[in-house]
Amino acid sequence: MNNKIVVKVYPTKEEAAKEIAAEIAALIRARAAEGREAVLGLATGSTPVVLYKELIRLHKEEGLSFKNVTTFNLDEYYGLDGTHDQSYRYFMNSELFDHVDIDKEKTHVPDGTVPPDRVTEMCEKYDADIKAAGGIDIQILGIGRTGHIGFNEPPCGPETRTHQVKLNDLTIKDNARLFFHGKIEEVPTSAVTMGVGTILDSRKIVLLAWGEGKADIIYKSLMEPPTEKCPASWLQKHGNCVFAVDADAASKL
Ligand code: GLP
Repeated sequence: MNNKIVVKVYPTKEEAAKEIAAEIAALIRARAAEGREAVLGLATGSTPVVLYKELIRLHKEEGLSFKNVTTFNLDEYYGLDGTHDQSYRYFMNSELFDHVDIDKEKTHVPDGTVPPDRVTEMCEKYDADIKAAGGIDIQILGIGRTGHIGFNEPPCGPETRTHQVKLNDLTIKDNARLFFHGKIEEVPTSAVTMGVGTILDSRKIVLLAWGEGKADIIYKSLMEPPTEKCPASWLQKHGNCVFAVDADAASKL
C-alpha cells in the first residue's frame, strides 16, 4: 500500500486540537532547551482556530513561550493588504500572534500586495526563506472542498513551489459564505500560495478537518490514488503525514 497517511479520528475537534497543540508545545520546548528555533507552517480558515485557541491557552496558563518560534503561513489573497480584515495576515495576528509572545518579525505570510511583475521574485524568496530557516518542522493544513491545500486548486501536480493561483469558483463561494461578510464580489479571484512541493518538504504534516461538509473530500484524498484532480491526495506520498479528523469528517471512510 503506497498511501502512508495516518488517520486519527477524534470524538471532537477540541480533543484533536488539544493533542496537536501538546505536540507543538513539546517541539517548541525541546528546541528552546537546545537554543534553537521551532519552525511552524500555519494555515488559515475556520478549521485551525480551535488549535490556535489551545496554543494561546498553553501560553497564558502553562507558560509556553513562542520566543523561539518562526512561522510560515501557507497563503494570502492577492490584492489584500495585511491591514484588511479579511487578509490572512490580519487573521493570523488576531487569532494567534497578538495573544502570544512571538516576535512578529519571525512570522511570515506571503505578501499579497506586490505588483504583478514582482510576484515571481516574492514567491522565490518565500521558498528560499523557508529553506534558510531550516525547513518546516510541522505544517498544519486545512482542506477546501475542492481538495485544495493552501490555495493549490485542482488541477495541481505534486511539485509546485510558492506561486500565484486563480481561485476556484467553489472556493470563492465557500470563502464568501464563511468570511467576507457573505459578499462574493469582495473575495479576491487570485492568491499566492506555497506549492504542493513546498508543503511536501515539511518534516511533518498535520491536516485538520471537521464536520460532515469535509467527509467527501477526506474520503477522496485518502482512498483514491493521488491525482491532479485532488491536490490533498499528494499527501499520500509524504512519509510523515497525519489526518486529524472528527467523527463527522471521517463518516465516509
Ligand atoms: C481557505 C484556505 C485553506 C483552508 C480552506 C478551508 O481556502 N486557503 O488553507 O484549508 O480555506 O477553510 P475552512 O477551514 O474554513 O473550511
